[in-house]
Amino acid sequence: MGADAPVADEATDWLADGRGPPGRGFDLGDSGADLGRSTAAGVERSVGRSSPPPERKAPLPAVSPVRKFATASPDAAAGAARSAARAAADLEALRGALEAFEGCSLKATAKSLCFYRGAAQAPLMIIGEAPGREEDMDGRPFVGRAGQLLDRMLSAAGWSEADVHITNAVYWRPPGNRTPTPQETDICRPFLERQIELVAPRVLLLLGGAATKQILRTDEGILKVRGKWQSIELGTLKVPVLASLHPAYLLRTPIAKRQAWLDFLSVRAALKVT
Ligand code: URA
Repeated sequence: MGADAPVADEATDWLADGRGPPGRGFDLGDSGADLGRSTAAGVERSVGRSSPPPERKAPLPAVSPVRKFATASPDAAAGAARSAARAAADLEALRGALEAFEGCSLKATAKSLCFYRGAAQAPLMIIGEAPGREEDMDGRPFVGRAGQLLDRMLSAAGWSEADVHITNAVYWRPPGNRTPTPQETDICRPFLERQIELVAPRVLLLLGGAATKQILRTDEGILKVRGKWQSIELGTLKVPVLASLHPAYLLRTPIAKRQAWLDFLSVRAALKVT
């Protein structure tokens, strides 16, 4: 039916007596009963009826609270993200700031915040694209099939989860596992930059096009950019960055694993000498 992401614990029949579909005039922060009351007029307008809506026979069932959708402009949301991220003195404060942040619309449809897994401080920080279904259920990045492949590659290179810090370009699952939009990655970017500062890795490994576009601010395709060392500067921190292929792409295109493995070896060599 096209529905793929739950937004509340119970279904809401927007077309039942006295209710209307979400639209102008809705305050999605209110309780379900309030939603019903405030939209009765909206229903009538939208279907062009002149008679009043039929009298409701039974009170509306209680509906679990609906999460708020981001209403601020993207610029305002990015500004709020910058101030919240800057104020975070450590990773737990940054997690708290993300939990309190309402400026990213992905949060409305996601179940969990996926912040990071692995070590708080690590020489290698890995940034993927976005949480998928398993990550959203679990609340940690890269725990599904792509994550299992990533773990096998890390282990083959001699690292365990305790040696790395793993996160994503956005912190909430995009509905249907779609690629996050540039607006969504831009809104999350101040948090990600602060996270990089707090982790202070010696090397940053970007997995896939979305993370690469976001961090390196490039429009070049991942197949062109991968394997070429670059660097980013955040305040006084200068970090060497390597882009590589996303494990989900490697699952679909096993022949590309060779290129990804060369990138892992390049990262390992860089960590040995930096
Ligand atoms: N793909 C990603 O980019 N990140 C995850 O956390 C899982 C799958």
